[in-house]
Amino acid sequence: MKRVALVTGGMGGIGTAVVRRLAKAGHIVVANCLPGFEPRAQWLSGMHAEGLTDVHAAEGDVTSFASMQDMFAAISSDIGPVDVLVNTAGITRDSTFRKLSQEDWTAVVDSNLNSIFNVTKQAIDGMADRGWGRVISLSSVNGVRGQFGQTNYAAAKAGILGFTKSLAQEVVRKGVTVNCVSPGYVETNMVRAIRKDVLDKIVEGIPIGRLARPDEIAALVSFLASDDAAYITGTNIGINGGLHMY
Ligand code: CAA
Repeated sequence: MKRVALVTGGMGGIGTAVVRRLAKAGHIVVANCLPGFEPRAQWLSGMHAEGLTDVHAAEGDVTSFASMQDMFAAISSDIGPVDVLVNTAGITRDSTFRKLSQEDWTAVVDSNLNSIFNVTKQAIDGMADRGWGRVISLSSVNGVRGQFGQTNYAAAKAGILGFTKSLAQEVVRKGVTVNCVSPGYVETNMVRAIRKDVLDKIVEGIPIGRLARPDEIAALVSFLASDDAAYITGTNIGINGGLHMY
């Protein structure tokens, strides 16, 4: 039986790798993107050209509860109910706290944390009713240990950890697992946007000596989505090249 997986931010750096992995593992995968996301058609035909014909796209703004209600209604009627939810959508607006604007605080908390409510709320009842589900959210090494210039992002990502541990307890008897993955620095546009001298210093400090490849994160997500991971819930798995050891 093919399960339906939804990946928010599914056309982004980590999201694309997750979509690819889940599709190869035999899921029907829906990649969410923002309404009007310009490369959407090209991204989708790229997936189909790779032979991943069960990949679909769904537009919706994760910062809006109403937009997520509409998107889930469309997915449910066109494709089927969501069994696997992977929350990868997120942004950074890095700034030292003293220079941080209220707008950049709110934008980051809305995209990275309030989004988790807006999206998960649409999926959780169906998963519990059907007796099987996976919720996997992307937190960050910086949500665990903090990071100079990321009070907003680290606060939001740390919020995901508390959310995960709490929801996991509530649905554990319903066959639904809830987990987070906390990547370190990954080869994505988000990380490439860091000033070169700052990024070089960060990479110097990573024990493994390089950035992560998106597919290394996706492999872990794909495992957590599988039946084999049924006994893993309420946890946060770091994947950071030794940058932060738990
Ligand atoms: N610790 C302590 N002090 C530091 C520091 C650090 N890590 N980095 C810089 N400083 C000091 C500087 O030496 C400087 O000191 P002086 O004023 O005495 O000279 C002062 O702090 C100001 O530093 P900057 O010049 O860096 O400040 P800025 O305003 O130009 O830049 C910043 C601030 C944009 C936040 C920049 O520091 C930065 O880009 N930091 C990296 C943030 C980061 O890691 N983002 C991750 C993005 S990717 C992601 O988030 C994915 C994920 O999950 C990992």
